[in-house]
Amino acid sequence: PQSVKVALLGCGTVGSEVVRLLHEQEHDLTARIGAPLELVGVAVRRLGRARELPIDPGLFTTDALGLVARDDVDIVVEVVGGIEPARTWLLEALHAGKSVVTANKALLGEDGATLHKAAADCGADLYYEASVAGAIPLLRPLRESLHGDRITRVTGIVNGTTNFILSSMDETGAGYAEALEEATALGYAEADPTADVEGFDAAAKAAILASMAFHSRVTSADVYREGITEVTAADVASAKAMGSTIKLLCIASKANGAVSVRVHPAMIPRTHPLAGVSDAFNAVFVEAEAAGQLMFYGRGAGGAPTASAVLGDVVAVARNRLAGVRSASESAYADLPVSPIGDV
Ligand code: NDP
Ligand code: HSE
Repeated sequence: PQSVKVALLGCGTVGSEVVRLLHEQEHDLTARIGAPLELVGVAVRRLGRARELPIDPGLFTTDALGLVARDDVDIVVEVVGGIEPARTWLLEALHAGKSVVTANKALLGEDGATLHKAAADCGADLYYEASVAGAIPLLRPLRESLHGDRITRVTGIVNGTTNFILSSMDETGAGYAEALEEATALGYAEADPTADVEGFDAAAKAAILASMAFHSRVTSADVYREGITEVTAADVASAKAMGSTIKLLCIASKANGAVSVRVHPAMIPRTHPLAGVSDAFNAVFVEAEAAGQLMFYGRGAGGAPTASAVLGDVVAVARNRLAGVRSASESAYADLPVSPIGDV
């Protein structure tokens, strides 16, 4: 069968693992999809950067828009990040009927509505499992498996970097700066770690989760946000002395027709299941009327875990293309009132 052609935008921490997995799992992926995936171009910022990857160096380009616009591209995978030019590239892809897979929570949190509208209008797939909680299958269950239920509350640890820092401070007594440096070296932090430590990254993820869980439009700006920069070693020690620990939580709930979403550090007892979530792991509790309580747990950051979620989406959209179908549109989101501080 004819190959499904993939354009990769970005080849850093996540993108290079996407390339590696595409190569290592080539035969399995072909069998699962029913046709081979063919990487036809990789857009990067610096052509001269040393990359030890199992692909033809001639695939690299700095012209991301030109790559997206190529007629032979079926799927655009975006792992660059940021609002622009990523939004322009993805809109160009969707308008041309290409399938889009992205890990870009900053863009989805700020302006997911524009992307969803383009996907719905153009009959194109828009998948972004990797944008929240890395490897953990979370958005697909919310978007599909729980669609027959009513979700009332989502509570979780959705930023690996801050969880790594807080866990290190708690468990080894590491200093804040030292732990942040290590999280950055391990590929967990954003290009600008301010997004992690000030809670912007968690707020974007909270907006995506709340939009999906409550079929509403929630943007990052709607989310009450406090980061961990004010959390001191003394705070961590005091919490410990009280049998508690400090975690950066995202809490989204819906009550009386309104949605509330917030991100802030919280002291939780060590007996709480979220207290044991350490390193860069993430965990998300979902409460639904019929299903009751569900917990999703796994690696929330890092190149390989995130690439796993990206590849899962690539397989899904490739199968959809071959079958001539696309996922259900998210354009039916309602504009519910959103207040940052709701029920506690
Ligand atoms: P990196 O900074 O490691 O990689 C970014 C890549 O984008 C690099 O290859 C860079 O090129 C390329 N790039 C930057 N600007 C441009 C441009 N203008 N044109 C073409 N290419 C460009 O980021 P990550 O891999 O860590 O993150 C990528 C995305 O995935 C972000 O949206 C991030 O939020 C998200 N994400 C990251 C996770 C993680 O754990 N790291 C987890 C979940 C999501 P060059 O190589 O030349 O510098
Ligand atoms: N910087 C993010 C984090 C990457 O630390 O969770 C995963 O989205």
